[in-house]
Amino acid sequence: MAGRLQNKVALITGAGSGIGLESSILFAREGANVLLVDINIEAAEKGAALITQRYPNVKALATKADVGKEADIKAAVDKAVNEFGRLDVMFNNAGIMHPADDNALNTEEHIWDLTMQINLKGVWWGCKYAILAMRENPTDESKGLHTGGSIINTASFVAIVGAATPQLAYTASKGGVLAMTRELAMVHAREGIRLNSLCPGPLKTPLLMDFLNTAEKRDRRMIHLPMGRFGEAVELAKAALFLASDDSSYMTGTDFNVDGGLTSAYVTPIGEPTLPPPVSLTIE
Ligand SMILES: NC(=O)c1ccc[n+]([C@@H]2O[C@H](COP(=O)([O-])OP(=O)(O)OC[C@H]3O[C@@H](n4cnc5c(N)ncnc54)[C@H](O)[C@@H]3O)[C@@H](O)[C@H]2O)c1
Repeated sequence: MAGRLQNKVALITGAGSGIGLESSILFAREGANVLLVDINIEAAEKGAALITQRYPNVKALATKADVGKEADIKAAVDKAVNEFGRLDVMFNNAGIMHPADDNALNTEEHIWDLTMQINLKGVWWGCKYAILAMRENPTDESKGLHTGGSIINTASFVAIVGAATPQLAYTASKGGVLAMTRELAMVHAREGIRLNSLCPGPLKTPLLMDFLNTAEKRDRRMIHLPMGRFGEAVELAKAALFLASDDSSYMTGTDFNVDGGLTSAYVTPIGEPTLPPPVSLTIE
């Protein structure tokens, strides 16, 4: 049976870890050639090697890029097109949560600027070069390939609900991602380019777990999680696959919440979760 991304080409940023790594593996399993982009090239190369070894029918390459630099993003998009011939899916997923990001009084300007540079400007540039590439995609109906494509921008639940444990620059940057994605979705809606925001809840990835490094910090959040657990990166990858594929062909401009019910919650249940979380795709 054909995969849900058969013959397509995907570029994923932040592909060395967490959501980006799980998505790279899943997209390849579904038939896509994948360019894994990360500032940590060793991690991206490891992911590409795993894919190449596990799924010989698709190609996976790694490239180093800092999404906070426009030239790096342009070069990464050019590489995807030169190596694979097109770009169907752009997953602008890389982001940072700086340990010195705090409230309005304590956040220093350079932390604000760095966060915006990577989390918001990086997504803008990713959209810009993806749109230019997707307009040039050749059509081949026999392979299910068409012009345009799907752009997925990773935002966050903190762009929707406020937290009294502030990371002001991070939250503002993710709010910017939501607004920008919505607007671009309208601009490009008639040329076959869809843009949606993926809004993860709190996940068990290094980005958050490095920060929630005490049981007290983790428990402070856990009380607000209806399912009684943090999310897994693979659960976001599965949602990203839906947005990437033609299964979501009538979706654009959405804030797609994958948050275990967090943004719908007032009073959460007590007790342990009944079901275990899904296992990472890095483990076969
Ligand atoms: N983990 C969470 O709880 C959570 C919640 C909501 C949103 N998010 C968002 O999800 C996205 C992915 O996060 P994750 O949890 O998978 O994190 P992660 O730390 O597991 O992975 C992030 C990856 O991005 C890479 N990266 C960092 N800065 C980069 C840069 N300038 N250029 C290129 N690559 C860079 C890192 O090297 C790393 O491989 C981020 O945008 C994050 O803000 C995460």
